[in-house]
Amino acid sequence: MLKAEKAMKEALSLVDLVLILVDARAPLSTRNPRLERRLIQKPHALIANKADLANAAQNRKWKSWFEEKGEPTDFLDAAHLRHPELLAERWRELVLRGREERGATRPLMRPVRIMIVGIPNIGKSTLVNRLRVKNVAKVANHPGVTRSNQWVNLAGGKVELLDTPGVLWPQLRDKEHELLLTALGNIPDDTTDPVLTAGFVIHRLRQLPIRNPFRALNLGDELPEDPQEFLETMALRRGMLLPGGKPSVVNAAQGFLKDFRAGALGYFTLENPPVAKEMAETVTQEEE
Ligand code: G4P
Repeated sequence: MLKAEKAMKEALSLVDLVLILVDARAPLSTRNPRLERRLIQKPHALIANKADLANAAQNRKWKSWFEEKGEPTDFLDAAHLRHPELLAERWRELVLRGREERGATRPLMRPVRIMIVGIPNIGKSTLVNRLRVKNVAKVANHPGVTRSNQWVNLAGGKVELLDTPGVLWPQLRDKEHELLLTALGNIPDDTTDPVLTAGFVIHRLRQLPIRNPFRALNLGDELPEDPQEFLETMALRRGMLLPGGKPSVVNAAQGFLKDFRAGALGYFTLENPPVAKEMAETVTQEEE
């Protein structure tokens, strides 16, 4: 862990801008503020990835919320990124504007250097690969970075991206947070019972202002409130049976999670932008 942090610090020291990836379905819970504060002492911008799987209206709310906090945020579907060069141009402008604001008098005579970081499975490699597609030309290594780190030319050579993204570890607040990150795929499934994780998602979806968030499952309207009974009903109606004819709740939970993660149930955001009071509480908790 310490070795990984040291390597990340070294890489971070070489860049002008850090792009922090979060999941648009839970943009705060997929950050690690403590690690960010410790490691990232330079300008950053947020990318809320997997925006295609989140609720579009909620994406707009979150974007305004972050921008009010002075954190420019792009909502992306990295897997189908359409205009990487425009993004790279924007990142460059952010860096140049920041330099101006800090009173830099001389123009930057080299390309702007950037790096992508985020918790596991947030889409870092996908984004790097999409950015790389049309920019196969790699530039020479810079001193101080291990040989495995390469730089990828973007925006016609005006931006260089470190092709090895940095992994930030999730900072878990409590069991609910762990279940949320497992549901979103940031924590491997094998550490938590899938029935618990699916139950958590069922409960969360029921809290959304949507009449029937489970309509796409085609299980009918009358689904039990209790998550365990919900999964039993799903197993029975889908013919997921154990020897002896009992419903396989585990199979139902795994199928449910697969559908949820693929967006087959619909596009849901599981976290709302906090109102001022909640935010103050979060900050207090963070600082404790
Ligand atoms: P990481 O480097 O941060 O660990 O994440 P990675 O890029 O490997 O992405 C994790 C999973 O998320 C991959 O799916 C990837 O395709 C998917 N993904 C990344 N960005 C987006 C996005 O914006 N929208 C959607 N819908 N999915 C995204 P996978 O199932 O693990 O692999 P595969 O099916 O792509 O092979």
